[in-house]
Amino acid sequence: MHADAQPSNSTPPNSGGAATTRWGVVRTSPIDAPVRIEGLEKSFGKQRVLRGVSMAFPRGKTTVVLGPSGCGKSVILKHLVGLLKPDKGRVLYEGERVDRLSERKLAPIRRQFGFLFQQGALFDSMTVYDNIAFPMRELEGESPYDEEARVRRVLRLVGLESTIEKYPSELSGGQQKRVALARAVVLEPKIVLYDEPTTGLDPIRSDVINELIIKLKQELRVTSIVVTHDLTSAFKVADHMVMLYDGQVVLDGDPEEFRRSDDPTVGRFLRGEASDDELRAIREVTAANRESARVSGDIS
Ligand SMILES: Nc1ncnc2c1ncn2[C@@H]1O[C@H](COP(=O)(O)OP(=O)(O)OP(=O)(O)O)[C@@H](O)[C@H]1O
Ligand SMILES: [Mg+2]
Repeated sequence: MHADAQPSNSTPPNSGGAATTRWGVVRTSPIDAPVRIEGLEKSFGKQRVLRGVSMAFPRGKTTVVLGPSGCGKSVILKHLVGLLKPDKGRVLYEGERVDRLSERKLAPIRRQFGFLFQQGALFDSMTVYDNIAFPMRELEGESPYDEEARVRRVLRLVGLESTIEKYPSELSGGQQKRVALARAVVLEPKIVLYDEPTTGLDPIRSDVINELIIKLKQELRVTSIVVTHDLTSAFKVADHMVMLYDGQVVLDGDPEEFRRSDDPTVGRFLRGEASDDELRAIREVTAANRESARVSGDIS
C-alpha cells in the first residue's frame, strides 16, 4: 500500500487513483463515485485543518471517515454540501464543481444529500410528524409528495411509526437519532451523510443505528458517508474506510486493509492509544498546572 514516504502537502487534482501525502502514496478509489474531494485545503485563521485531502466515495457503498477529534471530519462533510468553501482543491458531485456554485445553484444539489448532523437537531417545539415533514415544506413551489404517506414510510423504515404524534422531549436519545435519520431521508436523497451517528448512545442503541445505516443503504440504494470515532460501528457498517490524521489521509482502503495495516498511526488509533507526542503534551500541561497551583498555594 505505502510507497516510500515523500514529504508533500499537496495532492494532485485528478490523481486517478493515487494521492501523495506525507505518508507516501495512498490509494483513492478509481471507481465510480458520485462524490469526490480532490486536494482539499482549509484553514481557519492560522489553524491548518485540511492539508491536501483527496477521497472518493463509491456509489451505493458506505465509506467511513475515521480520525481523532478535531482532525477535520465534520469540516469535510460541510464541504460536500457547500456549507464551507475550500481554500484550495475541488469538491465534485457527479463531476460538477460544488465548491464553485452559488447558493441558488447549490440548492438542487443539497436536495440530493440527507444530513444527519452531529447534534441531532430536531425542533423541540414540533411533533415527530412535523419534524419529518419539515424538509418537504421547505421545498420551493408545490411539494410533489404525499406528505403523510412519505412521513409514515420513513418512520416505518426506522421502526418508529408509533411516535408520530410525540414531541422530541418524549423520546429517548436513540429514538431522537432515528427520527432525525427518518427526516434525513424523507426527500429520498442519493447520498446520506452521518456525522457521529452513534455518539452518546449505549451499545445496544448504537447497534440499532448501525443496522439502520446498513438497511438504508440496501433499501434506498444510497451512497453513505459516515464520520465516526466509534470503531465498533465503523467496522460494522464500512465497505470502504479512510483515516485522516494531521490534516491528511493516512490510509484509504477496505476494512481488511485497516485491520492488517502496519502503519503506526492507524494501529494506535485502532487500539485507542495516544501517541508519544500527545502524551508528552498532556504531561507538560499537567506539570504546568501543578506548578501554577503550587505557586498560588493550592497544593504544596
Ligand atoms: N467554522 C469554523 N471556524 C473556526 N474553526 C473551525 C470551524 N469549523 C471547524 N473548525 C476547527 O477545525 C477543526 C476541525 O473541526 P471538525 O469539527 O471538523 O473536527 P472533527 O474531526 O469533526 O472532530 P470531532 O470528532 O470532535 O467531531 C477544529 O479544530 C475546529 O475547531
Ligand atoms: Mg465532528
